[in-house]
Amino acid sequence: MQLPDMKEARHRTKTEVLVKNDYVLTEEEKVLGVGKTYFVKTYGCQMNEHDSENIRAILEQMGYKPSTDIEDADLVILNTCAIRENAHNKVFGLLGRIKHARQSKNVMVGFCGCMAQEEVVVDAIMHKYKWIDFVFGTHNIQSLPSILEKATKTNTQQIEVLSCEGEIQENIPVKRDNKYKAWVNIMYGCDKFCTYCIVPYTRGKQRSRLPKDIVCEVESLVKDGYKEVTLLGQNVNAYGKDLNIDYTMANLLEDVAKTGIERVRFVTSHPWDFNDEMIDIIAKYDNIMPYIHLPLQSGSSKILKLMGRRYTKEQYLELVNNLKTKIPNCSLTTDIIVGFPGETQEDFEETLEVVNVCKYDSAFTFIFSPREGTPAAKMEDNISLEEKENRLYELNELINKYSKENNDKYLNKIVPVLLEDYSSKNSSLKGYTDTMKLVNVKADSSYLGKIVNVKITSVKTWSMDGEIVELQ
Ligand code: SAH
Ligand code: SF4
Ligand code: F3S
Repeated sequence: MQLPDMKEARHRTKTEVLVKNDYVLTEEEKVLGVGKTYFVKTYGCQMNEHDSENIRAILEQMGYKPSTDIEDADLVILNTCAIRENAHNKVFGLLGRIKHARQSKNVMVGFCGCMAQEEVVVDAIMHKYKWIDFVFGTHNIQSLPSILEKATKTNTQQIEVLSCEGEIQENIPVKRDNKYKAWVNIMYGCDKFCTYCIVPYTRGKQRSRLPKDIVCEVESLVKDGYKEVTLLGQNVNAYGKDLNIDYTMANLLEDVAKTGIERVRFVTSHPWDFNDEMIDIIAKYDNIMPYIHLPLQSGSSKILKLMGRRYTKEQYLELVNNLKTKIPNCSLTTDIIVGFPGETQEDFEETLEVVNVCKYDSAFTFIFSPREGTPAAKMEDNISLEEKENRLYELNELINKYSKENNDKYLNKIVPVLLEDYSSKNSSLKGYTDTMKLVNVKADSSYLGKIVNVKITSVKTWSMDGEIVELQ
């Protein structure tokens, strides 16, 4: 049994990352799930969504069939997120419900994802949640078949979680959720260590995939008819810095664009590593989408310093100005934390000021949540919850105002939309513009998977309606 270790995670070394291609199932593992069903419940970010696509593919190779209902499944796996306290609470809430349901049905329960990398959580699972059958971490998804087999055979709790150094396993299978859009990991982990953030501990050190492996994956997606890829990493602009080759995110974006895939997106950008070369490449290629998610976190340089973000308010604003000048019609979204320890009313007003300048298309906004083991959790926090909630409310009002104003500009315009699914509205499909605006379009299913020109007929804060004007 191996346990995660936060202290060890801090002493990160520059060891070579091992790229492996040796994932393979034994004959026994291939039939372990025959006649049984599974349900994977995913929390958290796109990384976790994509990891669940791997987990589902592995389970189906083992003979398991998907269940549409968590209550009916023979195997339930929770892929968890540790980013804020409420993410934890949601998972523990569901565990309570599963425990209850287990009393009437024999169901196997697995626990993985970022919470599985936290010592306190693993400790709780070993002592308070002994009925959880197995735990694996973010670095060893490829071990799922063997862990599951051991748990099944021995009927004892199996915990296998590795600490941060990790490897890159290239040949894990994937069962993608969407037929037209695909997530493509370009790197794992994060070395930024923002003082509030748990991700560098739960996901380990930054490891970039080799350019050839990424380009090869995108090429095969093009062959399979995919229209869009989103390159995934915790801070994609730092791509390649850990590889000893002269190759950056700008080079990668260019090579991915050259595969001919119709749409390229990437998340998440850290302002610190966003250089002019990258901006020029985004501006140069029509198939790199004019949409940037650029987390601000705070508009106060004092708070940014405490957060360990390594840029000032002025540097952030200069970058946004550069982006908006060089990439016409670029949409811009962000993440903001309010109530970070030491944030005064003046600091908060600086955040509002930056929002007023950047006029974001949308934003994810959060109240600071102390995460055990991170430096910010030990900082003195003298802001009341009420004050934090007031700040969040005021910030959201402002964000919504700009979302609506930005969307209003689309009224009567003709924009390209990739129709990807049925909409909850009657007889409509839904899809996203190049700038990542959600549009409901009156169209029949023959348009699914197509990029069409849509005239926007009505606009709301979070979505729009439109009609097809002509096929591209
Ligand atoms: N890698 C991305 C963000 C990953 S986490 C980046 O650097 O931008 C997504 C968002 O969650 C962060 O941008 C931040 O706004 C928020 N977040 C992270 N830790 C948090 C915490 N302890 N409390 C509140 N929000 C947090
Ligand atoms: Fe967390 Fe900062 Fe890394 Fe983003 S860049 S994942 S906020 S440590
Ligand atoms: Fe959550 Fe882990 Fe993503 S903590 S936000 S699932 S990297």
